[in-house]
Amino acid sequence: MAVLVTGASGFIALHVINLLLSQNYKVIGTVRSQDKVDKIIKQFNNPNLSFELVTDITKLDAFDETLKKHSNEIDYVIHMASPLPDEGNTDFENHYLLPAVNGTKSVLSAIKKFAPKGVKHVVMTSSIVAMLNVNDDSAITTEKDWNPITWEQAKTSSFLCYFGSKTYSEKAAWDFLKENKDEVDFKFTTVNPVMVFGRQMFDEDVKDTLNVSCEYVNKILYLPPTEKLSQDYAMSYVHVDDVALAHVMAMREDRLDGERLLLSAGTYSDQLVANSINKQFPQVKGTIPAAIENCDKLMIRYDSIATQKQLGIEWKSFDVAVYDIAHQALKRLGKL
Ligand SMILES: *[C@@H]1O[C@H](CO)[C@@H](O)[C@H](O)[C@H]1NC(C)=O
Ligand SMILES: *[C@@H]1O[C@H](CO)[C@@H](O)[C@H](O)[C@H]1NC(C)=O
Ligand SMILES: *[C@@H]1O[C@H](CO)[C@@H](O)[C@H](O)[C@H]1NC(C)=O
Repeated sequence: MAVLVTGASGFIALHVINLLLSQNYKVIGTVRSQDKVDKIIKQFNNPNLSFELVTDITKLDAFDETLKKHSNEIDYVIHMASPLPDEGNTDFENHYLLPAVNGTKSVLSAIKKFAPKGVKHVVMTSSIVAMLNVNDDSAITTEKDWNPITWEQAKTSSFLCYFGSKTYSEKAAWDFLKENKDEVDFKFTTVNPVMVFGRQMFDEDVKDTLNVSCEYVNKILYLPPTEKLSQDYAMSYVHVDDVALAHVMAMREDRLDGERLLLSAGTYSDQLVANSINKQFPQVKGTIPAAIENCDKLMIRYDSIATQKQLGIEWKSFDVAVYDIAHQALKRLGKL
């Protein structure tokens, strides 16, 4: 039972791989460079984990070699690879949108060519941004919704092009399934999380700044006590353990075929992050922005009840999500 995990070096991917290995799956990861292979092999130190190099996922035959070589082993595919924009590159269409769409097509077409009957289930890591309404932030988003962002709109900024890349690459996958329904046998599910919080899989990957989502918590540790924080419930979070679990459940359970799983545990504000850190780590009180009581209010932006019922997951709480990031960061800074 082998699982192909594309984009295997990412924050979520490392947690997914860890869960798969703990359940005795063989994992074949793909990453862009040998440096990453060497690092991750060493970190997991598990003979059930191996790698293939896929240097450029935008080439439409990018995954052919990997699928050809392992066609008899691979039962499941978890597609997590998504291109990161080049620093300072403003050609969003060619460096971000098209590669995201092409990467999805290239992995699905490699399955079609080399393992059309062998692969049982494909899970794609999409995002809440493929569901939410970019033109109306008062709407409550559910699993049925699609971001109405246009390709033209998506080309205009790095922010919008992230929305576009996720929306259009997920669409490309559903379109592929429709167009090839007689030629491929696999089941298909997407996982669409909001901001993903949690510990880095390996302590050595903790730095002063963390990658995107976790940085929303981490940054508070570096702000002065005088800093005024936003009390707007602008963001939503979900714990990385729940996200990893959702991927593995999606992969194993036929009944989740055709579903888009919206993973959101709730909304939060920067101020609530500070409140949670102050409460859980009294030793940093006075060195970071202070807690402000009674700024709690309920705000629902994403209705994830259908997904929660399907998965039977009780989302990990906001305090746990914040704790897991702050604890690892404070340990590294010698402040525990
Ligand atoms: C963090 O981002 C860098 C570059 O943007 C990437 O190379 C690295 O794999 C990411 N790390 C994790 C754990 O996601
Ligand atoms: C590797 O997978 C096999 C099952 O295929 C399992 O018996 C073994 O314990 C796994 N090894 C490790 C180190 O997890
Ligand atoms: C993406 O695929 C299209 C064909 O669908 C191809 O023309 C284009 O060159 C590819 N883009 C990149 C960036 O490789």
